[in-house]
Amino acid sequence: LIDKAVAAANLKNRDELMFSYKGIPYPTSFCSPEAFKALESFEARSDDVILAGYPKSGTNWLSQILTDLIAISQKKTLGEERSGNAEEPEEFPYLEVGDPEKYERMIKLPSPRFMVTHLRPENLPTSIFKNKVKILLLIRNPKDLATSFYHFSNGLAALPSYETWDDFFTDFVSKKIAWGCYFEYLSEWNKYVDKENIMTVTYEELKENRALGVKNIAAFFGIPLTEKELQLVVERSSFQSMKKNSEKTHGAFGNIFFRKGAVSDWKNLFSEDQNEKMDKMFEECLAGTKLGKKLKY
Ligand code: A3P
Repeated sequence: LIDKAVAAANLKNRDELMFSYKGIPYPTSFCSPEAFKALESFEARSDDVILAGYPKSGTNWLSQILTDLIAISQKKTLGEERSGNAEEPEEFPYLEVGDPEKYERMIKLPSPRFMVTHLRPENLPTSIFKNKVKILLLIRNPKDLATSFYHFSNGLAALPSYETWDDFFTDFVSKKIAWGCYFEYLSEWNKYVDKENIMTVTYEELKENRALGVKNIAAFFGIPLTEKELQLVVERSSFQSMKKNSEKTHGAFGNIFFRKGAVSDWKNLFSEDQNEKMDKMFEECLAGTKLGKKLKY
């Protein structure tokens, strides 16, 4: 995947970098219409573990937490020697990223399979909902998310780069960025938040109290934890320790994925007008909804 991202440096304009599928833009380096088609018939298992989160909501952070929790659970049930290496997954966990044959290979993976997705629920395979797969839905303040996405877009050749923050902001609010409009994404997921197989967590609440967040997530997935195991997961998921380990986990892209890890960084970029514009979008799309309230916007 890293090779693909590097190769994308040769793609110059938006038409080469992005394609549209069912009205939503995706990066050509990571996704394809063929893979989306194949994904439709993907058969989810009831014991799959799914993390759903829009890009830049902290999906790498929660992936670290979930893979550690799964590894702890597996060690107890399978024994140390038979459990997989959480740091080297057999298949890239981002569900919609990869070749169309990926889903055939995933049939052979042992349970529990861990997957991450940036997709909206209506674009996920229906078997996920039919089989009541447990989904951890991660959300983040849209202003901080946009700020993170701007820096990410300029750091990763696979995405369009922007000369100015203002240019990026215009694309962000015009639904032109990869994986589509974040407000629409949240509105769509809002229709699912009452389902018992879905747990919502915010980036901000995890920043405030990681230990409590990890405890709740483990309980949701039915993974018992000793105090020592909890502490281990909490320590390994600190921003400092993930950033330190990032060359190993993310190669040359470590600094792009683990940039600042802060709340309210948007205040360094947003103009008053942009702030008002985003507040208005939030009011129109989300205010009063369950996810809107949870966002502590
Ligand atoms: P910033 O760009 O604001 O720093 P994703 O993994 O979905 O691409 O999200 C990336 C964002 O999550 C980045 O935000 C990154 O720094 C932040 N992040 C990653 N690991 C984190 C951690 N352990 N604690 C807090 N934030 C983290």
